[in-house]
Amino acid sequence: MLKQRMFSEIKTLKSEIASEIEAANDLKALDDVRVTALGKKGRITALMKTLGAMDPEERKTKGQELNALKDEIAALIEKQEAALKRQAMDERLASETQDVTLSPRSSEMGHIHPISQTVEELTAIFADMGFTVAEGPDIEDDYHNFTALNFPPGHPAREMQDTFFLPNDPEEDGERAHKLLRTHTSSVQIRHMQAHKPPHKIICFGRTYRSDYDMTHTPMFHQMEGLLIDKDIHMGHLKGCLMDFVRAFFEIDNLPVRLRPSFFPFVEPGAEMDIACSRKGGGLRLGGNPDGSVDGWMEILGCGMVHPNVLKNCGIDPDTYQGFAFGMGIERMAMLKYGIPDLRTFFESDVRWLRHYGFDPLERPNNATGVQKTT
Ligand code: DAH
Repeated sequence: MLKQRMFSEIKTLKSEIASEIEAANDLKALDDVRVTALGKKGRITALMKTLGAMDPEERKTKGQELNALKDEIAALIEKQEAALKRQAMDERLASETQDVTLSPRSSEMGHIHPISQTVEELTAIFADMGFTVAEGPDIEDDYHNFTALNFPPGHPAREMQDTFFLPNDPEEDGERAHKLLRTHTSSVQIRHMQAHKPPHKIICFGRTYRSDYDMTHTPMFHQMEGLLIDKDIHMGHLKGCLMDFVRAFFEIDNLPVRLRPSFFPFVEPGAEMDIACSRKGGGLRLGGNPDGSVDGWMEILGCGMVHPNVLKNCGIDPDTYQGFAFGMGIERMAMLKYGIPDLRTFFESDVRWLRHYGFDPLERPNNATGVQKTT
C-alpha cells in the first residue's frame, strides 16, 4: 500500500515540478523552483528522508527511483537554465546593437608625415620592379661606412661626410671598433652583400647623420639606397631603371632625365641623375617644355656601377658579377614632389605643418593601388 502510494506520489511530483520548471520564465523563478524541489527543505529531499523508515528491500528500490527523479529534475532545470540564458543573450544582442559603419570624424584624424608617405611611394615603385627591402644599423663602424666602400683611411672623400663619433667598441678591433652614426645608407650594401649570395636586388631606407645644419641640411635626415648585382648588368640597366623610377615617382610620363659624371668612391663610373625643371615665371616646375626643350636641370640622386673593389670586399668576383647602386635623400624627393620649401620643418613636429603637408592615413600608397591617390 505504502509502495503504491509512493509510486504515484513520485509521478505526480515529477509532473508538477516539470511544469513549474517549464513555467519559470527567468533565472530567479527557476532558482526558486530548484530550492522547493531539491533544496534542504525541498519536496524531493523530504521524500528522501522517508527512506530511513523503510525496510532494506523497499529502501533499495525507492532509493533508486528517488535518485532517478532527482537526476531528471536536475537535468530539466539545467536545460531550462541554458534556454533562459540563451534567450537573455538574444534579447541583449537585439537591443544593444552597435553601428560599426559610423564614418570616421575627419577633424580628429591624424596625418601621415611626408617622410613616411614618400617611403611608402618609393617602396611601391621599387617593389613593382622586383626589389626587396633590406635594413642596417644607424650606429655603424668605420669599416662598413667607409673602408669597405672603398674610402681608404685618410681619403679626402671622407671629409665630405663629417659625422658623430662614438666611443670605441672594446669588443672589436681596428676600423670595426670605431663606432659612428652612419653618414649614408650605402653601408647597408656591404652588410647585405656580405650576408647573402648574389644576385642582389634590394632597396633600403633609413636615418643618416652628418654634422651640418642650415636650410638644406639637418644633422639627421633620411636616405634611400638601391643595389642590383647580377650577371651582365651594365649602365643601360642603371639608366633604364632610374628613368622609370623618377617618371613614376614624379608622375610625369616623359620627364627628361640626364646622367652627369660624378665621383663616389664606391662606384665606377659614378654619376648624378638630373631631372628637367623650369624656374620661368617664378616658382619651380618639374618637367620639360611641350616642344621637348629643357630650361634647366636639377640633381636628384647619386648612382653608378658598383666598384670592383667593393665587390671584392664582399667576396664577390667582379668578373662574374656586376651591378649598379644609387642613393638619394628622402626629404629632398618629398620637397620636390610636394613643394615643401624648408628641410628643417620636417623635424619641428609642428601639427599645423603636418596638417598642411601630411597625408590621409586611409590613402597610403601600396602595391595594389600604386602611388597615385585614388581621389
Ligand atoms: N652615399 C651617397 C651620399 O650619401 C649617395 C650615393 C651615391 C649612393 C652614389 C650610391 C651611389 O649608391 O651609387 O652622398
